[in-house]
Amino acid sequence: MNGNRGLNVLDVGTGPGFLALIFAEMDHQVTGVDISKCMLDKAKENARARDLEVSFCHGDAEALPFDDESFDLLVNRYLLWTLPDPQMAIDEWVRVLKPNGMILAIDGAWFDPALAMRLRRGLSKAITLITDRRRHLFYSVFGQYYKPIRSELPLYGDTKPHRVRALLEDRGLSNVSTVYLKEVQEFQNLHNPLPYRIAHKDPLFLAMGEKY
Ligand SMILES: C[S@@+](CC[C@H](N)C(=O)[O-])C[C@H]1O[C@@H](n2cnc3c(N)ncnc32)[C@H](O)[C@@H]1O
Repeated sequence: MNGNRGLNVLDVGTGPGFLALIFAEMDHQVTGVDISKCMLDKAKENARARDLEVSFCHGDAEALPFDDESFDLLVNRYLLWTLPDPQMAIDEWVRVLKPNGMILAIDGAWFDPALAMRLRRGLSKAITLITDRRRHLFYSVFGQYYKPIRSELPLYGDTKPHRVRALLEDRGLSNVSTVYLKEVQEFQNLHNPLPYRIAHKDPLFLAMGEKY
C-alpha cells in the first residue's frame, strides 16, 4: 500500500459509519457502503456532525457497486456474521481491491454455541430482564428477527478467528493473520454493562489478509 495517508478506503457494512469516520479522521478518502438505507442516513448524519467528508452509498457486500481494483484498503466491523455467503463477499472484496491491497475485518464470536457460552448468555438475559427491561425487549426482538434466518448465515454461530482465517486463505489472500483485540475489549468493557460482559467473553478479533 502507498504509505499511511490518502488511501482509498472502503468500509463495507458501514452501519452508522464507525470505521469510515475513523479512517476519514486520519485523512484517507473513505467510501462507506451498506445495504440499509436507514443506516446510511445515520452514517451521513454522523459524518456531518463531525465535519468529515465520506462518500456513502447503497450496495450489497456480496455484489459491490464498484469497479475492479478501486481501493487500497477494505475494512469492515461486525459484518461477516450477518452474511449469507461470506465466500462470495470475500471474492467481491478481493475484486475491488488493488493489487497489494489489504482486507481488515473485525468481528467476534457473538453466538458461540458452546455450552459454557450458552449458559453465560442465559445468565446475562436473566440479569437484563431484572435490571433493564427495555434492553431485554430489544434483545428479544433481535433474537426473534434472526431466528428464522440464522441457519442460513454460515458464520452466525461460528465467527471464530480460525474460521475467518481459513476463509481468507481459501479465497486466495496472502499473509493472512488474526489477532484478538484485547485492549479494545478491555476499553469497551469499561463502558459495557455487566450482562454484556457476561454474555461476550473476549470475543473481539481482527482478521487481515493481502491481495497478491
Ligand atoms: C452489526 S452492523 C455493524 C455496523 C458497523 N460496521 C459498525 O461497526 O458499527 C452490520 C451492518 O452491516 C450491514 N449489512 C448487512 N448485510 C449487508 C450486506 N449484504 N451488504 C452491505 N451491508 C450489509 C447492516 O445493514 C449493518 O449496518
